[in-house]
Amino acid sequence: MNDETPTLDDQSPARREELAQLRAGLNEKRKWISSMYFYDEKGSELFERITTLPEYYLTRTEVAIMQAFADDMAACIGSSATVIEPGSGAGEKIGLLLRALDEPVAYVPIEIARGHLEASAESLAQQFPAIEVLPVWADFTRPVEIPSPRRASKRRVVYFPGSTIGNFEPDDAVALLGNFADMVGPGGVALLGVDLAKSAAMLEPAYNDSAGVTAAFNLNMLDHLNRRFRTDFVRDNFEHLAFYNAGRWRIEMHLKSRCDQVVHVDGEAVHFEAGETIHTESSYKYDDKRFAALAEAGGFKLLRTWRDPDALFSLRYLAVE
Ligand code: TRP
Repeated sequence: MNDETPTLDDQSPARREELAQLRAGLNEKRKWISSMYFYDEKGSELFERITTLPEYYLTRTEVAIMQAFADDMAACIGSSATVIEPGSGAGEKIGLLLRALDEPVAYVPIEIARGHLEASAESLAQQFPAIEVLPVWADFTRPVEIPSPRRASKRRVVYFPGSTIGNFEPDDAVALLGNFADMVGPGGVALLGVDLAKSAAMLEPAYNDSAGVTAAFNLNMLDHLNRRFRTDFVRDNFEHLAFYNAGRWRIEMHLKSRCDQVVHVDGEAVHFEAGETIHTESSYKYDDKRFAALAEAGGFKLLRTWRDPDALFSLRYLAVE
C-alpha cells in the first residue's frame, strides 16, 4: 500500500452504530462483544481450520448425515424447488443437497459479505449449469425479498446448516425462524443443522482444541478490533476460555483478562480486573423436545430428524405451520 494514502475517518452511520454497540457491550457488568468481529480474513481462515480439527465433530458429522440421507431429504422436499441459503459459506454441503434434489429450479444464496457472495454464486453456477443462481446481498436476520426464478418453482426451502441457529440467543433464533418462514412462504420448508446437547466432556474440547486454533480464532478478534476501531487491546493480556453452561444449554466463549488493565475504546478507558471476561459467542445445543418447541415458536412444525449413529448432530426438516 502507498504510505501517502490518507486514511479515511469513517464516521458513516453504520460505523458509528458499530462503535456505539462495542462501547455499550464493554460498559456492561458482564462485558460482551458481537461475534461478527471474528470474521476478518484471518478469522475466516482460522474458522475453516476449526471445521477440520479432530475435536470439532460438528462439520464432519453433519456432512456424513447429509451423505447418508440426502436422498431421503430430497424426497421430503420434492421436485422443482428453489433452495435459499442464508449465510452461504464455502459450499461443500449445499452441493450434497443440490445433487440429490429432483430438478431444483434455483439457488438463492444470501450473504452480507459481498466478495464471498459473488465467489460462491459463480462457483455454484459453474457446478450446476441447470440451476438458476440468484444471489442476494443482504443481512439474513432482516426481511429479505426472495427473487423469482424464470422457471416455475413448486416450493421454497431454506437450507441453514452448521448449527448456526445455535449461535443465536433463543429469542433471536425464534425471530430468525419467523424470518425464514416469511422467505419460504405458505407451503415452504426448511432444512436446518442443529448440534445436540451432550456431556461437557465431549463438547468442551470441540471449542478448546489441543492445537490452539479455536484460541487463536477467539483472540484474533482483538487484532481485528484494533485495526477496525481506535482500540488498544493487547492480545497477550487475554486468554481463550470456553466452557459448557449446562443450565443454559450452551457453550460460552470468552476472552479472559490475564491482569488488571485498562483498554481504550475510541478514547474511553475500559477497566478490566484480572480474571474478568468478555463474552464473545454462545453455541446453543438442543435436545428433541427443546428444538421442537423452538421450531413451533418460530412458526414451523418439526417433521423429520436425521442423526448420526452416535447422536452427536442432527438435521431437521420443518414445514411452515
Ligand atoms: N455454529 C458452529 C458452532 O457453534 C460454528 C461456529 C460459529 C463456531 N462460531 C464459532 C465454532 C466459534 C467455534 C467457535 O460450533
